[in-house]
Amino acid sequence: MKQSVKLIAGNWKMNGLGASLGEARALSEALAAEPAACRVALCLPATLVHRLAEAVAGGVVEVGGQDCHAEASGAFTGSTSAAMLADAGATLVILGHSERRAGFGESDADVAAKVEAALAAGLEPIICVGETLDQRQAGEAVVVVSAQVAGSLPSSLSGKAFAVAYEPVWAIGTGLTPTLEQIEEVHAAVRAAMIGRLGEGGRIAPILYGGSVKPSNAAEILAVAEVGGALVGGASLKAADFLGIIRAA
Ligand code: 13P
Repeated sequence: MKQSVKLIAGNWKMNGLGASLGEARALSEALAAEPAACRVALCLPATLVHRLAEAVAGGVVEVGGQDCHAEASGAFTGSTSAAMLADAGATLVILGHSERRAGFGESDADVAAKVEAALAAGLEPIICVGETLDQRQAGEAVVVVSAQVAGSLPSSLSGKAFAVAYEPVWAIGTGLTPTLEQIEEVHAAVRAAMIGRLGEGGRIAPILYGGSVKPSNAAEILAVAEVGGALVGGASLKAADFLGIIRAA
């Protein structure tokens, strides 16, 4: 089966001040000295997107945001539009992260609307899905995740650059990971749901795994069928840790 180049994306979440950009610079310099075999992205808080873009300009590190509003502009105090992220230098944006679905009540329909906004601004969306521990224990992981894919991917994605990230909620920041068999099972279901939603257009986009990815487990996870990369939280904050994952791809 074809294996396109993997995408390793870091999600700093609500972490990072200007001083933290030293880690991004160190990452960029390490990748200039020794190129990666994969694409590398950092998705930073909105306040750092432009400074990151300047810090890594001319290098291989791609710049992303962590959310955008579904509307292009208007009276939405505190929100950031997709065009604003793009204007600040982002080329990617994470959408529908479980921390936004749970903490901000984002539905699949909300996520799909944000994906449309991202595409309109020329951003590559990374669309997150994943089951809770209760859903996993009830044997509903595949059903839940498949429904999230069906509901969160607008048909306009067909032919566009995007990624889906499978992040089991119970594996995020916990040090727990699914078994490799469980990852393979859900990724296969995600691929089937993508094809069901987008037809042939659902065959190519990478499916990232996220949730407690570390240098020590990255190689085995990235070798699983249909794992097209990783979405990394805690281990993306330090260049040395993140490089350990990148070098495993
Ligand atoms: P951790 O890698 O810290 O578990 O976070 C995963 C995640 O939520 C990335 O979006």
